[in-house]
Amino acid sequence: MQPMRLLITRRSIRRFRPSPVPDDLVRRLLETAIRAPSAHNLQPWRFVIVQDSGARARLGRALTEKMRLDMAAEGADAALIAARVERSLRRLNEAPLVILFCRDVRMVRVDAPEEHLMGVQSVANAALYLLLAAHAEGLGGNWICWPLYAQAETCAALNLPSTWEPQGMLFLGYPAEEPGEKTLRLLEEVVQWM
Ligand SMILES: Cc1cc2nc3c(=O)[nH]c(=O)nc-3n(C[C@H](O)[C@H](O)[C@H](O)COP(=O)(O)O)c2cc1C
Repeated sequence: MQPMRLLITRRSIRRFRPSPVPDDLVRRLLETAIRAPSAHNLQPWRFVIVQDSGARARLGRALTEKMRLDMAAEGADAALIAARVERSLRRLNEAPLVILFCRDVRMVRVDAPEEHLMGVQSVANAALYLLLAAHAEGLGGNWICWPLYAQAETCAALNLPSTWEPQGMLFLGYPAEEPGEKTLRLLEEVVQWM
């Protein structure tokens, strides 16, 4: 695909065919992601390929327990909590491939808020590279922010190093949907020419 066409046609895909994503393809996606730009070239990204069904179950339990607590604290009623938990867990379980992406908090030049923010931005670049690589390979994917709301719980569930700070996860697989039209803000609204 032409590079510009690739960028323009990428969309979030939330429904997948059940076929697994071969390991060599997963490797190619990761080889692309690690080439993303990062502040000071520190490459602070860390990836967890959640393949094992036990790990996925532990991740699902940790995320949903925290979701229940957070929603209850916000005063949501039990039926709404149950519905949200059920829907989120179903999406997690139906994704053929789950890749958690984290920031290694040690990967900063100096311990300053701006440097940590650049680390987060760098990890986001790698996640986007991964999504674009997946699209180039005929896969679809969706960025999921859920782990951001349960960072400690996610680390504990997957037994991650204490310096790995979960930023999000990608659900990936062969697409089973055509996304609808996307509303775009006009250039005039988002750009200033000077
Ligand atoms: C930081 C970030 C967090 C996101 N979190 C979620 C999420 O938790 N669940 C979800 O379904 N989509 C999530 N998305 C996908 C956005 O909803 C999607 O990119 C947006 O609606 C634009 O649609 P498109 O990706 O098809 O262009 C997230 C995207 C980004 C960049």
